[in-house]
Amino acid sequence: MSCSLLKGKKGIIFGALDEKSIAWKVAKRAYEEGAQLVLSNAPVALRMGEINKLSEECGNAPVIGADATVLDDLKNLFGQSMEHFGGGVDFILHSIGMSVNMRKGIDYHNMSYVHNWKTFDISSISLHKILRVAWDMDALNEWGSVVALSYIAAQRVFPNYNEMSDAKALLESIARNFGYYYGVKKKVRVNTVSQSPVKTTAGSGVKGFEGFQDYAEKMSPLGNATGEACADYCITLFSDLTRYVTMQNLFHDGGFSFTGVSPTVIEHVYG
Ligand SMILES: NC(=O)c1ccc[n+]([C@@H]2O[C@H](COP(=O)([O-])OP(=O)(O)OC[C@H]3O[C@@H](n4cnc5c(N)ncnc54)[C@H](O)[C@@H]3O)[C@@H](O)[C@H]2O)c1
Repeated sequence: MSCSLLKGKKGIIFGALDEKSIAWKVAKRAYEEGAQLVLSNAPVALRMGEINKLSEECGNAPVIGADATVLDDLKNLFGQSMEHFGGGVDFILHSIGMSVNMRKGIDYHNMSYVHNWKTFDISSISLHKILRVAWDMDALNEWGSVVALSYIAAQRVFPNYNEMSDAKALLESIARNFGYYYGVKKKVRVNTVSQSPVKTTAGSGVKGFEGFQDYAEKMSPLGNATGEACADYCITLFSDLTRYVTMQNLFHDGGFSFTGVSPTVIEHVYG
């Protein structure tokens, strides 16, 4: 159902790899709600070609490659997007994450710091780089909205989540800090959404992912929030209905984050 919440708004969506991606679902909902979009992903991801299907479903939205760790790529992306939109950008989704240590099967206590640096650059510092390039090019309109996706392992220990826990803590901190500066400069708001587990390419990279997901489902009073529900929530944050929400980490997890224990989990453990 469309409420035209984003009518007339222009946004850049980072990180739609395939139909399972959360960014894919956000792009489709944003288009449904009347937004004009530019889609971006790392050049290596674009080679899969899947994103062209999404582009067609979003009114032939331009697809512009950018490695989100490379400032020149981001400058080119913002330049081309502003030309396409004929002006500034109203919202951005940062849906980017990758753990090099995890991918190589290296445990947290044994991590390679070279891989760790790359993980932070891709998963966290990229948000700073996107905001900084937008700031330098004055690419975001007044009352613009930036959302990045996070996970509760930023606050609590989930052993198999490995270095991504630290990456998410840094991501949330960057959202808070840049949110302050961008709020003062141009009333731009910056938030993170801490989402329930969803089976995507990045999600499935976490060892024992299905256990995580099942546990969260049993713990959450509302059950796990789906990727589609996450997209709905992001749309509200891009809309004008949430203009005074900024510098927050917003849990979108069916109540998981504030539940101590549930009878279903106790029953599962003790029978
Ligand atoms: N799936 C989950 O359970 C879950 C839960 C909470 C938060 N998140 C977060 O949601 C975001 C999206 O992940 P997803 O689950 O949709 O998986 P996904 O694998 O579909 O998306 C990750 C994206 O990051 C992109 N990416 C990687 N390196 C990049 C780079 N250098 N430059 C630009 N893009 C790059 C990938 O190409 C991919 O499109 C991530 O930040 C993830 O941590 C996911």
